[in-house]
Amino acid sequence: MNLSGPGVQITIPININGANVVITSHPSRRLSEVLREELGLRGTKSGCNSGDCGACTVLVDGEAICACLTPVIQAQSCSVVTVEGLSAGDGNNLSEAPLSALQASMLRHGAAQCGICTPGMLMAARALLDKYPAPTKLQVEDGLSGVLCRCTGYHKIIAAVLDVGANRPAPPPPRAGVAVGARIERLDGLKKIDGSEVFGADYWPVDALIVRAIRSPHARAGFKFGDLEKWLYSNKGIEAVVTAADIKGENRFGVIPAFADQPALAEIKTRFRGEAVALVVGDAQVIEALDLEEFPIEWSKTKALQSVEEALASVCSPVHSGIENNILLEGKVVRGDAKTALANADHIACLNFETTFVEHAYIEPEAGCAWMDGDVVVIQACTQAPIMDRDATADILGLKHEQVRIIPAATGGGFGSKLDISLQPLLGLATLKTGKPCRMVYTREESMASTTKRHPARMSGRIGCDETGKIVGMEFEGDFNTGAYASWGPTVSGRVPVHASGPYLTPNYHATARAIHTNAPPSGAFRGFGVPQAAIVQEILYDALAAKSGLDRLKFRQLNSLVDGDKTICGQKLHGVGIGQCLDALEKRWIEAQEIAASFNSQSQTLKKGVGIASCWYGCGNTAIANPSTIRLGITRAGKLYIHQGAVDIGQGSNTVILQICADALGIGIDKFEIIGPDTAITPDCGKTSGSRQTYVTGKAAELAGIALRKKILRMSNMAEDAEILLEAGSLIIRDANSSHVTSSHVIGLSELEPGENGYVISAEETYDPPTTPLDENGQGVPYAVYGYGAQIAEIEVDTKLGSVRVTKITAAHDVGRAINPLLCEGQIEGGIAQGLGMALMEEFIPGRTENLHDYLIPTFGDMPEIQSILIEKPDPEGPMGAKGLGEHVLIPTAPAILNAIHDACGARITRLPALPHRVLAAIKTSKAEQ
Ligand code: FES
Ligand code: FES
Repeated sequence: MNLSGPGVQITIPININGANVVITSHPSRRLSEVLREELGLRGTKSGCNSGDCGACTVLVDGEAICACLTPVIQAQSCSVVTVEGLSAGDGNNLSEAPLSALQASMLRHGAAQCGICTPGMLMAARALLDKYPAPTKLQVEDGLSGVLCRCTGYHKIIAAVLDVGANRPAPPPPRAGVAVGARIERLDGLKKIDGSEVFGADYWPVDALIVRAIRSPHARAGFKFGDLEKWLYSNKGIEAVVTAADIKGENRFGVIPAFADQPALAEIKTRFRGEAVALVVGDAQVIEALDLEEFPIEWSKTKALQSVEEALASVCSPVHSGIENNILLEGKVVRGDAKTALANADHIACLNFETTFVEHAYIEPEAGCAWMDGDVVVIQACTQAPIMDRDATADILGLKHEQVRIIPAATGGGFGSKLDISLQPLLGLATLKTGKPCRMVYTREESMASTTKRHPARMSGRIGCDETGKIVGMEFEGDFNTGAYASWGPTVSGRVPVHASGPYLTPNYHATARAIHTNAPPSGAFRGFGVPQAAIVQEILYDALAAKSGLDRLKFRQLNSLVDGDKTICGQKLHGVGIGQCLDALEKRWIEAQEIAASFNSQSQTLKKGVGIASCWYGCGNTAIANPSTIRLGITRAGKLYIHQGAVDIGQGSNTVILQICADALGIGIDKFEIIGPDTAITPDCGKTSGSRQTYVTGKAAELAGIALRKKILRMSNMAEDAEILLEAGSLIIRDANSSHVTSSHVIGLSELEPGENGYVISAEETYDPPTTPLDENGQGVPYAVYGYGAQIAEIEVDTKLGSVRVTKITAAHDVGRAINPLLCEGQIEGGIAQGLGMALMEEFIPGRTENLHDYLIPTFGDMPEIQSILIEKPDPEGPMGAKGLGEHVLIPTAPAILNAIHDACGARITRLPALPHRVLAAIKTSKAEQ
């Protein structure tokens, strides 16, 4: 019997999670697909289908294997265990099943952030623990090395696996009034570790059609369709082909409406490789088997503008007609007279530096589904910005905004890229055209080719100081390759000049940043909006100036740090400035690390240790424009307390942190709340998850809503401001905080009250918008109401013969204002450092060449250094309970600290990222030649 024919179906007995099942399938179908599609075991994830990410790891006869590379026939008569089988239950009722010790430990340690890698990690860990019940750290790193995580930096995962044996009980929820500051487990963590979390690819309506995109194979090309009707009718099972001609609304989108320039489906030409031109919609099996090479389209390739240099030099063929020299926008900040200050400076340092495209490499490729609910198109997909998705999708579909409903699925990593719409309008178009539910999952290659990247930057900087080491002025220029479409290019060109001074007092300043179009994938938001690139220039120059001034590098930074009352380069007077405290907190390790390096280097010829330092500051929220968040609270007649929380938690922990703030502001225990998560139909707008704004902006709205509800309750009960509020058995009990005497309490029977708006008997809704002001033509004004600060020390080793660099330790001090949840703060720091390390040493996205997780390398367990996190709490007068944002700050200092450490180790001054061995060797050679 030929078992390889396309239509062959055989029966295959397998024991899955302890139950014997018989599967009817093609023998070579991926085990991961059978588990997910046929058996509904969607805890097993798929991040690449190529054996690179490990998200699909399951146990087959006790061995951890990649289910995406395993034909189902290989599991015949085997025992297969998936994440659903890890709990002590039967795998069908996850919420009821007690957690295994391993799962409980992962939850306790905050080892799952977005959670998309977590099932794979758990299965790899299970196999390891079965072999080594008390593994060493090295054994954990080795055993789990086949699974990638882009969020956590791996440390909390390792700690969780090492701690399994301890089997500690979960801490009880904190008492009312002390949630803020508690290291509580993430409130949405259970679903992430039992496999029941629903990511974009994990839900679809019955009989949903599959959508696949036809994409440009060329960076720049014209195209013509052949006979689409004929092709459609000759391919049975295909229900529709969708092109730009089907778009009833405006075929343009962009995260900044004034710059919307990207078609949902290209019309007659494409501007980057991977751009979608058509959709094919149909029956799952037919679409999967389809040979897209046969799709009737004719391409006429034209010369692409590959680099910023080419784009600036091109006058006759701009990427977009009307955009001269391909310069989309220039941002500028000018304060004082930088030129004169630099002319009069005692010491000057200059640098040219280049960075490359960096891919977000979240483990979850874009995925979602759509269906009609009356005349409303409902789209459930991974996202960071549901309201923006709704509005942009409705505009493309030609519908009113309220005729599109976005239900965010759990998002398996975003880091900025999932702020832009991707498949949302494509799903909408397919659903409207067919009238049937549709689903779409990007392949890994499709995700990497078509979604946004970190802007490659070509930057130059000059900084001067006086003879005492005080900074007198700075000039900065940067060209940022924004690719084929605007996306967040305007934001990058605005944010960079506002931040390029670093957290230092710079009296004279002139900085510009331009976003330049090329025929590359659009560059967008990626943890820092261009600031991590600019910080490299400034921090390298600070090292050079410290040397010229004869000052220690840390002391040089302390000398120039901003303090309360200082004015920034935008003329904004600052309060709650914690950079000084961050640098002070690093002093001890700075001295130790240098002593260790000096002693080691005195005895080693080839391997050299180095120590580097760098700082950051970062404004939280949108730059000088409104970005409000609204939180609604309501108590029902039945005594349930709801929070409508529309902020998308992409792993950073906003579901937990915002509730901690709200609970303390209201004065009711966190365990009494039920969360109503983001859904454009039922939750007020909490803005997008970007700009490190959710803890600060939505947290502040939550604080205000909590205070407002508390006031209402106290007014109803006529009790003192500091009264204790209890929600018990359908009643609110308000009692004097200083007495347990019965007469000093008041009871509100909730069932006796009439429900008002939204069905609540008592409710409050508050909106908070950061108090910023527009910037003038010189960038003067108040771009952000709150800033966060940080500084990191990198300790590294350079093999001076091979050019390889190993980071051994990062000590990171970050001023978070108030650590609402220290466990989650540490997780952010560790994850940000991992991404900063990748950017410094290994990550380089090259369109057409590194569009998979095999050729595009991100840090793995073995790449991670020891990390010591130090949380500084210098309260911000504006932030909720003093809190500041943290998400983007944590990545900014890592790359410059590593680059400064490389220079410290061997004199090599890297001028282009990533610092690959051949670049390090070349820089060593240059440094020797200059000596
Ligand atoms: S999905 Fe199997 S290794 Fe990535
Ligand atoms: S938690 Fe590991 S990829 Fe997000």
